[in-house]
Amino acid sequence: MAGAKPGVDAENLDYNRGFGNEFATEAIKGALPMGQNSPQRVPFGLYAEQISGSPFTAPRHTNRRSWLYRIRPSVMHEPFTPIDRNLIRSSPFQETPASPNQLRWDPIPIPREATDFVTGLITLAGNGNSESHSGVAIHLFVANRSMTKRFFYDADGELLIVPQQGSLLLHTELGKIGLEPGEICLIPRGLKFRVALAGPEARGYVCENYGPMFRLPELGPIGANGLANPRDFEAPWAAFEDREGDFRVVAKFCGNLWEARYDHSPLDVVAWHGNFTPYKYDLARFNCINTVSFDHPDPSIYTVLTSPSEILGTANCDFAIFPPRWLVAEHTFRPPWFHRNFMSEFMGLIYGQYDAKAEGFLPGGASLHNCMSGHGPDAETYEKAAAAELKPHRLSDTLAFMFETRFVARPTEFAMRTAQLQHEYYECWQGLKKNFRPQKP
Ligand SMILES: [Fe+2]
Repeated sequence: MAGAKPGVDAENLDYNRGFGNEFATEAIKGALPMGQNSPQRVPFGLYAEQISGSPFTAPRHTNRRSWLYRIRPSVMHEPFTPIDRNLIRSSPFQETPASPNQLRWDPIPIPREATDFVTGLITLAGNGNSESHSGVAIHLFVANRSMTKRFFYDADGELLIVPQQGSLLLHTELGKIGLEPGEICLIPRGLKFRVALAGPEARGYVCENYGPMFRLPELGPIGANGLANPRDFEAPWAAFEDREGDFRVVAKFCGNLWEARYDHSPLDVVAWHGNFTPYKYDLARFNCINTVSFDHPDPSIYTVLTSPSEILGTANCDFAIFPPRWLVAEHTFRPPWFHRNFMSEFMGLIYGQYDAKAEGFLPGGASLHNCMSGHGPDAETYEKAAAAELKPHRLSDTLAFMFETRFVARPTEFAMRTAQLQHEYYECWQGLKKNFRPQKP
């Protein structure tokens, strides 16, 4: 029963395990054709359909595709027509000038009016170009309604969902995934799904990755194990809905939302095999590696997943976490140090307190430190850490994360106008004292 969480779903959720593995699963015994992908007749009168997540000719290690055996093929729907995209924004991000200022937001309140996962997507920033497959969009989501007859797919990118409050049950074409804060889920580009809420409301973050698919980072001298281990990634077993009625599928395509009427649930895949799958990962399984002598490795040591770019070592986007861990460095200023970065850093907090900030960075909130904008511990954190006794110390009850991207993240108009923007954020560094005394080393 690994992966089944109380409060998410009464059903038994178990998972296929492994990152990028070739899986084979059938909800009805005998539905999966053996020995070939598209037999003349598929068992049980199903249709065979391939979904390709990479070009046909991608190298083997990045080639992703799955064969789906479904009640109706995906082509059976009425024409799509444009619908309101609410607060979703997409590339090119040109609503506001990109700001060199340090930006921080309080958590966006969950609305009272009926809001499902799609209606509740709010774009804070983004970069690149979805049509040329580079960059990311960074969204928040707030929701208080389950999607029951509405489904969503995103042709512009894959969706890395980071819940912060409330458990979710994601019904996808390839099966069901229970998700709660502290876990992440990746929905591949183009895969249809609907989001059900386990409780009254939910909130979280979404990285919409236009670029190369997220993958595990190389480990170099770390060796064969460590950071996020492949076996801890979980893909769903086949599960299908045989429902007929009046349904809507919302597509995100080239930055806009489109909607089509379906007379059946598109989640009608009875069996599938392949390696293009949604997956979940429990961030508590992250094998955190850090110094046992002095100083800090760069925060890249916390990378869970990376979307590379064509420039070696220069990620389209890295997803890194700052989980509970021991701090043991000697002679070292232990919180994250002052720095300026080539990469642009968007951070969120899932729970607890981040060790570089005394206050103001709240669970559900966010910060953005763009290319070369100085940032680091606030004055209070600096004073405390510079004087702290350096005993081994466990940072517990904290989980922050970062979407770090090679392109400047341009905030949306919403991000710059919302009442949640902390205009006084810069003040947290103004109390840093001048300690320089040339006569005293
Ligand atoms: Fe930073």
